[in-house]
Formats: sequence, structure tokens, C-alpha cells
Amino acid sequence: MPIFYNSTNHTFHLQSAASSYIIELMESTQLAHVYWGPKLAQEQFDKRIFSIERASFSPNLSREAMQISLDTLPQEYPSYGSGDFREPAFEVTYENGSTISRLIYERHEIVSGKPGLPSLPATYIEQDQEADTLHVHLRDELTGLRTILSYTVFNELDVITRSVAFVNEGQETMTLNRVLSASVDFNHSEFDFLQLSGAWTRERHIHKRELVPGIHRIDSKRGSSSHNQNPFIALLEKDATEDFGEVYGMSLVYSGGFLGQVEVDSFGLTRAQLGIQPFDFAWRLEAGESFQAPEVVMVRSSEGLGGMSRTYHKLYRTRLSRGEFRDKARPVLVNNWEATYFDFNAEQIKGIAAAGQELGIELFVLDDGWFGQRDSDSSSLGDWFENKRKLPDGLAKLAQEITSTGMEFGLWFEPEMVSPNSELYRAHPDWCLHVPNRSRTEGRGQLVLDLSRQDVCDYIVESVSNVLQSAPITYVKWDMNRNMTEIGSQLLAANRQRETAHRYMLGLYDVLERIVSRFPHVLFESCSGGGGRFDPGMLYYMPQTWTSDDTDAVERLKIQYGTSIVYPASSMGAHVSAVPNHQVDRITPLEMRGHVAMSGNFGYELDLTQFTEEEKNEVKAQVQQYKNLRELIQFGNFYRIKSPFETNDTAWAYVSEDRSQAFAAYFRVLGEPYAPLRRLKLKGLDPTKRYSVEGRLAIGESGSVYGGDELMNFGIALPMLSGDFQSLLYVIKEV
Ligand code: DGJ
Repeated sequence: MPIFYNSTNHTFHLQSAASSYIIELMESTQLAHVYWGPKLAQEQFDKRIFSIERASFSPNLSREAMQISLDTLPQEYPSYGSGDFREPAFEVTYENGSTISRLIYERHEIVSGKPGLPSLPATYIEQDQEADTLHVHLRDELTGLRTILSYTVFNELDVITRSVAFVNEGQETMTLNRVLSASVDFNHSEFDFLQLSGAWTRERHIHKRELVPGIHRIDSKRGSSSHNQNPFIALLEKDATEDFGEVYGMSLVYSGGFLGQVEVDSFGLTRAQLGIQPFDFAWRLEAGESFQAPEVVMVRSSEGLGGMSRTYHKLYRTRLSRGEFRDKARPVLVNNWEATYFDFNAEQIKGIAAAGQELGIELFVLDDGWFGQRDSDSSSLGDWFENKRKLPDGLAKLAQEITSTGMEFGLWFEPEMVSPNSELYRAHPDWCLHVPNRSRTEGRGQLVLDLSRQDVCDYIVESVSNVLQSAPITYVKWDMNRNMTEIGSQLLAANRQRETAHRYMLGLYDVLERIVSRFPHVLFESCSGGGGRFDPGMLYYMPQTWTSDDTDAVERLKIQYGTSIVYPASSMGAHVSAVPNHQVDRITPLEMRGHVAMSGNFGYELDLTQFTEEEKNEVKAQVQQYKNLRELIQFGNFYRIKSPFETNDTAWAYVSEDRSQAFAAYFRVLGEPYAPLRRLKLKGLDPTKRYSVEGRLAIGESGSVYGGDELMNFGIALPMLSGDFQSLLYVIKEV
């Protein structure tokens, strides 16, 4: 049992693989946060938190304990109004207008295993002995508000998950105005704050800044996790780097609007918080009702950012993603979007699929434009039946013809949306998010369906299921191409309108659960204009995500590198596209485009029928090379070696669990005059093993056998490269 309770001095000691997290119950009432850091061996933690009496501006908890003030106390789940003047973790309004809550410890339970979260995605275990869970019950005697803080400790990984549930045990209705899932107070502020930020086509760029007194916040008010900010924050101790030092990550398993923030107070304490976006959120809790907040996954590493990322990768790949494809090698695909956009017919599609089949590609994906009257983005979302003009013999026939050649067939949907110009909208104009009598703001000419409604969710499940049942479809790309505006639901009472955005997420998760469990043999890839909803919530239902609508190889270096901070390679869709690139107009060699795309779930997104013989041979070789390496790429341990945010070079490597094999990729963006000689130092190998290295080596480099220690400390001498956009691959095998 890695959770220990010391009943003498009331401390909880949570021990994960290499971390300790310690909570103290002060004065038998107040949960104080003591420690989160490297593992402390003594299981029965017997020290107390140290505090001193401050001036009258720091109010005291009681006359008997003048040294305890909520203003200065590091806390587990802080509220506002009784002496803590920092950002609270929650806020509740009661019927008398008061927003003051005083949560007092009532009891706790330590259970083996990890219970699921009702109606929400969450990490899971397969055997009870993988994890233990602590539930701490707090209660506000005056109002009957019960709060249950849950902490799960994974035995084999440096992971602690947190979530919180609220139960109204009072007689009156209460309104939750703010419910963050986790709040952690660190006893110093010597940190840098790391966030993953960007925009459409440049998602998850790494930004780091020094903490200073005050609040630093990232958030999404878009109704989805967003391209702009990812629901993840990390604190890096001052000397932490990619490979060394203390790093603390917090990642929210949720796909809607969120808030992540860090506050440094005047006593040098740091409060890190993550949860549902409180802005424009309110949830009425009637007597007897409860509310469950999403999960925050907290990962600590003493091996820098790289160590933190590898823990997230393993957890999210094996204990967040689910279903048949979790552990299965993902197919090489070709998608017709950048090849044709909306302008295609069945013959063209068959041509691209046939060309793909010849090159060894395993899956053809028919993207947007196959349904309703869809010839542009101005119509037909919601009308999930085939476009007879484009596909005169029908979708099923097309899918059968393609699958009869040995290829699989996949299909694009955007089920959460409706076009005002659609049969669905004409029949149900009230089915979208809207506010009575206000005009409905369109994005890409479309409106967002109101997934807080059961009838809308049922329609989506049925209409998507009908298509999936009608043809041999084994892959679905689930897209979502706009953010929410006029967030209101026709079916909710006036005082529940601010519940709409979260109810939408609950509706979406219900729809996804019903569809993925009805079609267990279909591989689902989520997408939101590329990476606008690349988050752990979606990964629970769909094991991979289209990383970005930007397919330029150079741009992708940053996007994929940044994404790897939290998400595993097996979750990242990466495609080779045509040049000049459609997003940035850049011309890069096919070789580099292939090498960048091979760093995720590999595919092509261009008109394969346009290739020259020479290009076809190159692509055939790329596809074969990826097939040889994909288990390693998709399921190996990932090491970042050189950052595109810092230099002209990028490098990364994948190492098998037993360290017998590795695959390294090196990219140099711009040509350099009179360039220095460079070496690539690998990471993650076994220093005592001997390895062969296959790949382009510097002249004079023997290419024979290297020690693991040599590859990691002395490195491989890279060949001189000429020109822009160069890349090199190395396959490393134990001999
Ligand atoms: C946005 C996606 O990210 C693209 O890959 C493509 O599927 C388009 N939508 C289709 O409308």
C-alpha cells in the first residue's frame, strides 16, 4: 500500500515510484500541503509543518493557534473568504448570497485500485495492485457541502492523479462557481513555468518564463481545449533541463475550456492550479445532487523534462488510451484532403487509393466532402448520407472496391456541427448552441450542435453508426472545426445556462463512449482543425489525433517536438504533403518530409498519382522503412536530443523498452556556410551493450560496432550536409 496515514500526527504520505506527496491534517480540521518531491523513505512521516505567527493582516485560524493563518499556510484545497487571499480552488454561492465555505476534515478512506470517474474520461488500471486511492471527505457543517478529494498513486510510475467531487447534503440549492480539480502549494518559487501555446497551424510551441510574484495564467474560453493553449502546465526548478533536475507537470483530462495558473505570493509560496474554466461557468447543485470534476494527472521527474514526458507517454499510451488499437501498430494511410479538397469524384479517389496500394500504403481515408451537397465548407454538415453526384455508385460500393484490393477504408466526419444550409438545420433549427433572439455567429459557415441535449446526442450516435454499418469502414477521422459562441441551450432553465459548455462535454463524452464501444474494430482519430483538441480527454476515446493542419516539414519539427512534452508518438498523426506546402508555401525535399512524418503515425496527404517513377520508388522505400520501425516509434521510449526552439538542428530518438533497438532522426533546417563538424549523442541506450548503426555517417566513421556508452557520450560523427532542409535517420541495433 503506497499510501500511509500516521494517526499520531495526522499525516498522509503518498508514495509513487520515486515521489512522495505529503498532506497534514492541522488542528484535526484543515488539510495542509506539506511536500511533493523526490521519494522520502520513511513511510510514517512524523514531521509537522512549520509556521509562525504573522501580523494582524494574516488572520488566524483560531485564538488557540495564532501561528496558523490561512494566508500563509500551504493548502490542499483552498477557499476564499476566511483568511486565504490567494486564488481559491473552488467557490460556491449559497441561497443567502454568501460565497463563504469552510471545509473541515471529516474522514478518509484508503482503497486499493482506482475507481473510474462518472461520465468523464480518466486514467485507469487493469489490476487493483497497480494503484491505491485516498479519498478525503471534507464538510461544511453550516451548509451541508461535502467535498471529496481523491488522490490515486500509481505504484510503477511517478504519477499521482487528483480529482474532486462535490455533494450537496444540505436542504438548499447551491451554485458552484468555480471547481478546479487540483491545487498544489509549493513552499518556494524558484521555478520556471512551461506552457504549450500557439494557434491553428502552429500548435503547442514551448514557452518558458521565470515566475515572479503575482499570477501567471493560461486558459481557453473557446469551449474546447484549443489550438491556443494546451491543458497542461509544468514547473521546472531553476537548474532543471531536458535531462536533469526537478520537474512537476499537471495535465487535465478534459477537452473543454480550462484554466491553468500559478500564483507566487508575498511569502514566496507557489500555488499551481488546473481545472475547468471558471469564467462563464456555474453549476446548480440541488439538495442531494453531486458534481464530479475532471482528473488532473500530476507527474514528477528528477530526470528533467524528458523524464516527465516519458512518464506521461507511458501512462497516456497504456492507461488512458483504450481499445483494440491501444497496443496495435497503426496503419500507414493516405488521406485525400490536401490532394483534392472538396473537388473529387469516385474515379479520382479510386486512383489515389490504387496508387497508395501499389506503394504499400495500408489505409485510404476519404476526407471532407463525401456527404450531403457538400462542395465547399458552406453546406451539409449534419446530413450524414452520401453525395450521389460525387459517388454515384454509393459510399459502400466505393469502400468495397477499395477494400477488395487489400487496402482498408476510412472516413471523415464532423458530427458535432451543423451547417445552416443543411437538411438537419432546416428540420431542427433549435438543435445548435444559441441564445434566444440573438443572431448565431458562424465559424467556417457552421454552427455547433447542442450536445447538452440527449436528442442531439442520440441523432449523432445513430447517424454516424448508420454510415459505419453501411460500408466496410475501419477508420474514422472525427473532426471539429470551430469554437463555441452564444453558448446557451434551449432546453436548460435560465439559471442553468452557464452549465451548457460543461454539459456539452459530458454529452460529447457520452456520444464517443457509445460509438467507440459499438465499433471496437474501428480505429478512431480525433481532429479539430488539426490540433485544436489534442488533449488527454480525447485520447481516452480515440488513441490518435491529427496533430496539426500544418503539414510543412519545418513547421512540424516545432509542433511535434512541443506536442511530445506530454503526448506519445502513437497519438500523433503526421503526413507527407505536396510542395510547395499549402500552409507556408515552402519547398522541402521528399526525404525530409518523409523523415518528419515517420516520427508519428505515418501517412501521406497528396495526390499519389502525380508522383514520378523516382518519387514512387522513394515513397515505397519510406513506407517499408516505417513499417520496419513503427513498433519502435509508436511504442518505444522517446528522447528529445536537440530542440528546434533553440537551434537550427532538431534531433530525437526512440528506444525500445529492453534498449536493444533505437531509431534516431536528425534534421538541419538551413544550410550553414563553413559549418562545424557535428556529432549526434544518443540517449536512453544501455551503456554496457554494443550496437550496430545503420545510416549516413561521416566519411571516415567506420560504421562498425559502437558501445552504448560511446553512442551516448561521444556520439556519431554526422556527415557534412549541403543545402537547406536536410535530414538523417539512424537505425541502431544491439549486436
Ligand atoms: C480540418 C482538418 O484538420 C483537415 O485535415 C480536414 O479534414 C478539414 N478539416 C476538412 O474540412
